[in-house]
Amino acid sequence: MHVQVNNIQLHYVDEGEGKPVLLLHGFPFDHHLWDKQIEVLAEKFRVIVPDLRGFGETDHPEGEYSMSQYAADVITLLDLLQIDKAVIGGLSMGGYVSLAIAEQYPERLQGLILSNTRAAKDTAAIRQNRYNTIEKINYDGTDFLVSDLIQKVLCDNTLQNKPDVVEFVEAMMGRQNAAGIKGALAGMAQRKDRTFILNTLDIPSIIITGSDDSIISPIEAKRMVKELQFGHLVMIPESGHLSNLEQPVKYNEVLMKFIESCDLVEQH
Ligand code: MLT
Repeated sequence: MHVQVNNIQLHYVDEGEGKPVLLLHGFPFDHHLWDKQIEVLAEKFRVIVPDLRGFGETDHPEGEYSMSQYAADVITLLDLLQIDKAVIGGLSMGGYVSLAIAEQYPERLQGLILSNTRAAKDTAAIRQNRYNTIEKINYDGTDFLVSDLIQKVLCDNTLQNKPDVVEFVEAMMGRQNAAGIKGALAGMAQRKDRTFILNTLDIPSIIITGSDDSIISPIEAKRMVKELQFGHLVMIPESGHLSNLEQPVKYNEVLMKFIESCDLVEQH
């Protein structure tokens, strides 16, 4: 489905009924990152999964996309769907956006899922690398990204033993648009440190990390969980940065249990 939000046509999937759950994909992916979760979670919950600005079937205007812009887009989507509160979460860049939502729209959260992500801003080296990548895209296009990233986003076990997952992720990265990729890179480079948000949260929260995540180390997850009052950390074994795709059965079990618990914990 498509809706008009903030001057773009935004594409999203809306499946199932019950407690609303909003899942945000990482970079450079689209809503299909969550296919394995949608099919299971939608049996019990209403699962809303957008293509963020610049990705998938959503429009990809030129320019920088801030995490606040992405947050405003998805909150407008929730407004249009008349959803007051949802369990909201994302993987990696989707986690950066979830933290921007937690900062700007805390009243919309019924629970928070931070998967394979960090609250800190970019180091100077990571920021520079993003601008170098934008330059390279301007000269060479985006083809190089797939072969560069595939080795980093999946762990060795997945790369060696799960050719279907490798193929799926390569195809998903390969179909993204240059303007969308550059907009996200510039936005991530400029994002602020949102660590301070973590200890303001008075809702159930879960931090998920992959044992072999080489893009965002489990150390970051351990740092974040220390800041939370009502949160816990789960490490998914034998998984890299895309823990939800690399170990979907374990990941879904964790997510299902967490989303169910969001009713049980008293809200403050
Ligand atoms: C992602 O998966 O969203 C990216 O690895 C995030 C990033 O580049 O910081």
